[in-house]
Amino acid sequence: MLKLNDKIVITSALPYANGEIHLGHIVSTYLPADIFARFCRLNNKDVCFVCATDDFGTPILIKAEQENKKPEDYVKFWFEKDKKDFENIGIKFDFFGQTSSKENIQLVQHFFNELYKNGFIYEKEIEQLYCENCKKFLPDRYVKGRCPYCGAEDQYSDGCEKCGRVFETKEIIDPHCAICGSKPVLKKTNHYFFKLSEFSEQLKQWLQKNENLQKEVKNYVLNWIKDGLKDWDITRDISWGIPIPLKQAKGKVLYGWFDNHLCYITCVLKQKSKEFWNSSTIYHFIGKDIVYHHYLFLPAIRLGEKEYKLPDFIPVRGHLLLEGKKFSKSRDWYISINDFISSFPSDYLRYYLGAITQYSQKDTNFDWKEFQAKINNELVANIGNFIYRTLSFISSKFNGIVPEVKLFDESDKKFEQKIKSINKDVGELIEKLEFDRALKKILEFSDYCNQYFQNKEPWKTKDKTCLYLCVNAVKVLSVLLYPFLPDSCEKLFNQLNIINEKIGWNNIKEIKPGHKINKPEILFKKIEDHDIESKLKKLK
Ligand code: 2FM
Ligand code: ZN
Repeated sequence: MLKLNDKIVITSALPYANGEIHLGHIVSTYLPADIFARFCRLNNKDVCFVCATDDFGTPILIKAEQENKKPEDYVKFWFEKDKKDFENIGIKFDFFGQTSSKENIQLVQHFFNELYKNGFIYEKEIEQLYCENCKKFLPDRYVKGRCPYCGAEDQYSDGCEKCGRVFETKEIIDPHCAICGSKPVLKKTNHYFFKLSEFSEQLKQWLQKNENLQKEVKNYVLNWIKDGLKDWDITRDISWGIPIPLKQAKGKVLYGWFDNHLCYITCVLKQKSKEFWNSSTIYHFIGKDIVYHHYLFLPAIRLGEKEYKLPDFIPVRGHLLLEGKKFSKSRDWYISINDFISSFPSDYLRYYLGAITQYSQKDTNFDWKEFQAKINNELVANIGNFIYRTLSFISSKFNGIVPEVKLFDESDKKFEQKIKSINKDVGELIEKLEFDRALKKILEFSDYCNQYFQNKEPWKTKDKTCLYLCVNAVKVLSVLLYPFLPDSCEKLFNQLNIINEKIGWNNIKEIKPGHKINKPEILFKKIEDHDIESKLKKLK
C-alpha cells in the first residue's frame, strides 16, 4: 500500500495557447490529475495542483501571424478561453498561469544561466533551414517533411507524431517551408545546445530506481537511452520566446520545450515555495506523445540546475479516439468542451471518461452509444437510483428525519461492515492511479446497496435500521464519488444537509438518527436515444 505524502504537487501537461481544449486532452491529462487532486484534498493533504498555457513556440507565432495579432494578445485569448473551459468541466487548479508570465521568464533565464555556468549548455555554429522567399529561419513547425526515423509523411520538423521520436529540423527528409511551400536553403547561425547526452547515466539510474513509474514506459525510455541521447538545440531564431540571457545571443530565444515544463515550478512557487516543491511528492500527468520530454529532457534540466527535485510519478495515458478514429479538428471528427456541456452535465463526461480510461498507454475510445449506456445503466439506474430511493423514502415516510436504529441482523452487520471499509478499498486504487478500477469498485458497492434495499423491502416493513444504514451508505457514496463527480456530489451534500461539515475521505462521520435531510432531487437523468442520434448525425 502506498502512503501519500502530506505535501503533493500535481501538474498536468500545459495546453498550447493556440486552440480549444478538447476531450482528447481531458482524458489523458486533466481529468486524471483533477480526480487525484480532489482525492488528495479529501485526504487532508496540502495539495498544489497547477497548470498554465504553453504560450511560446513557432506554431503559436505562425497562428498569431495568420490572424494578424500580436502574439501576446493571441495567447491571452486562449488563456482566458482555456480557463473557462476547465472551470466548466470541474477541473479545479490551485493556480493556472502562463509560460509567458514575467515570473516564468525569470525562472527560465535563471535555469539557463545555471546550466550554462555548470557547463551543460554550449554554443555551436550550425546550419539552419532558411526560406529565401519568407526571409526567415525556419525552425520546427515552419518546416514540414518526412520523418527521418520511420518515414511518416507530412511531419513537422521538431518530432514525429507517428513514432514519437524527437529530432532536429535539419534531419527531416524533403523539407519545405510550411508557410509558402518553397524549398529552404541552409544558412549559418549560432545556437545553444543542452548536453542531454551527458545525463544518460544519471537518467538511467533514476529511471531504474524509481518504482513509481509505469514499467512499460520506463522500458522504452531506457531503450532510447541505450540507443544514445542527442544534445538538444534549445535556440530559436524567432521573435516570440524567452530571450536567451547572454549578450552575444541577441535576438535569439529559447525553444518552447526548454521553458514550458519549468512553468510547473513557477506556478508552484507562486502558490507555495521552493521548500514545498522539494519536500512534496510530485506528479506530472501527461499524454503518451510527450514521454520523451518528461522522462528525459525535464529531469535532465533539473539535474543540471540542481535546486529542484525530480518528479516521483509521471503518469502516462493514451490518446482518445472518437468512434474508433483519431480526433481531428480539421476533419470535424471532434468534440469540444462547449459541444459537450451544451448538451449534457459535465459530470457525465467525467464519469464516462473516468470509467473507460485505463492507467496505461492504451488508447481510449469515445463511443456515443456506450456513453449513453454507461450513464443510463450505471449512473442513473444503479448509483442514482439507490441515492434517490433512500432519500425520498426517508423524506416521505420519516419526514426527512433519519430514523433511530434497532437491532442489527446479519445482513445489516454485513452491510455496515461494507459501508465502513469501502473507502479504504477505493482509496487504495486511487492512490495507485487506477481511477477506472476505483469507479468500478464504487459501482459494485452501489449495486450491493441496491440489493440490500431490495431485500429489506422497507416499503413493507418500514425497517428503520435499513434506512439508517442506507442514508449512511449514500453519504459514503457522496464522498467516494466526489473526485469524479464534484458538481453532483455537492448537490448531494446539500440534499444530505451536510454542506457545512468538513468532509474527509478517511473519517466519514456517521449520519446520526435524528438528523434532518433536505428535499431529495433526482441527480442523474436518463439520456434519451434522440440525444445520442443527433450527436452521431452531427459527426457523420
Ligand atoms: O504537447 C503539448 O501540448 C505541450 N504544450 C505540453 C507541454 S507540457 C510541459 F509544459 F511540460
Ligand atoms: Zn517560405
